[in-house]
Amino acid sequence: MDHKGYTGASPNVICCTHQMLTIEDLPIKGKTVFLRVDMNTPIDPLSCKLMELNRIQEAAVTVRDLSASKVVIGSHQGRVGRDDYIGMEQHSEALSKILGKKVKFANDIFGPAAIREIESLQTGEVLLLDNLRFTAEENMEFSPEAASKTVLVQKLHSHFDACVLDAFPTAHRAHPSIVGFSYLMPTCAGRLVSKELKALKNIALVSKAPFTTVLGGAKVTDRLEAIDTLIANKKADRVLLCGLIASVFLKAARKIDYDIGLDKEQQLVGRAAGLMSDYPDTFELPIDVAIHSNGERKEIPVSELNPHTKSFDIGSSTIDHYSRIIRSSGTVFMSGPPGLFEDPKFGLGTEMLLRAMASSFGTTIISGGHLSAALERFGIKEWIDHVSTAGGALVLFLAGKHLPLMEALDRYEAKLKK
Ligand code: 3PG
Repeated sequence: MDHKGYTGASPNVICCTHQMLTIEDLPIKGKTVFLRVDMNTPIDPLSCKLMELNRIQEAAVTVRDLSASKVVIGSHQGRVGRDDYIGMEQHSEALSKILGKKVKFANDIFGPAAIREIESLQTGEVLLLDNLRFTAEENMEFSPEAASKTVLVQKLHSHFDACVLDAFPTAHRAHPSIVGFSYLMPTCAGRLVSKELKALKNIALVSKAPFTTVLGGAKVTDRLEAIDTLIANKKADRVLLCGLIASVFLKAARKIDYDIGLDKEQQLVGRAAGLMSDYPDTFELPIDVAIHSNGERKEIPVSELNPHTKSFDIGSSTIDHYSRIIRSSGTVFMSGPPGLFEDPKFGLGTEMLLRAMASSFGTTIISGGHLSAALERFGIKEWIDHVSTAGGALVLFLAGKHLPLMEALDRYEAKLKK
């Protein structure tokens, strides 16, 4: 397929600042399409099973709309070295059930087995490749041109006619599957990207000050990177900290004085200290936390934390204080769970702050798979204005950062215009 194959239909997804192409804009009937989705799902550490199906259900929407093509799906799952770094077999079973038709599983990414499966696909058939992060390159960031020269892209691109980018939660990663294929072939947005951008545009129209951002979870670096821009762009008048990121700020505020065991810890703590001095009245830190004590939850003041006690949740005084701020906010955005809610002993912080959001009159946005799973568990999902599939990517998007996936979509659209 070359660019002359473009149908000329008017691009029909309007996002905040630009238009982008979608499935109807590319002539992909009977063609082989690489569909990059994000089916990265929280995994139960004990059973190794998928904990929820939200991102897989969202991916299914685009797969269904590509039923006139041969669809090769790529996704990552987890991060190297973590419990959630597993293959995609369970995802293919879940997707098969949702679609009501067999999704083939390659058990390979770009080797002979995968190529054979891709070449034998018939129109309407769907093949899922294995966890793209099983290849080293998919764990690294590249410029689009360099990504197009990676082994992953070089081995596969000639088997694809077009690329559909739908991995909104991975929009902030310049990985080969996001920016490499799209550099070489006609590329458009999938349904989830369109849906998220539309919802976020509508949210932007109704959201009002004061803005409160609640940050938790284990992914510190992305969130730290984005806080500055969120505050500067008036998207975070108050920042309520929980989880590992709270430990970084507690250390920066000298409320704890031992190593918290993070890569680049010194750098992160220095950055947190800088942010607190630049924006002195913005950050709220936990007053108390919950720790393990003889298999039970025990709450202690932050001042009693020591290198041998690990905090797994915020404590009741912190929950009260944060809930009050949430209820008096015009807009509340939460990214990353406040505690290890998968363990019922440490679910209180997550449940109570989510309930405060659900009962607030402000506009509410929840970000990421873990919080979406928590909302399902507590039965309050419908009370939240927008539940985004994205975690770190959404924080960066709201902060106004340029995201590689959006740039890849823009690039192809601009190429066509030329
Ligand atoms: C997410 O869950 O935020 C996305 O799947 C991206 O995952 P990553 O932070 O491991 O790149």
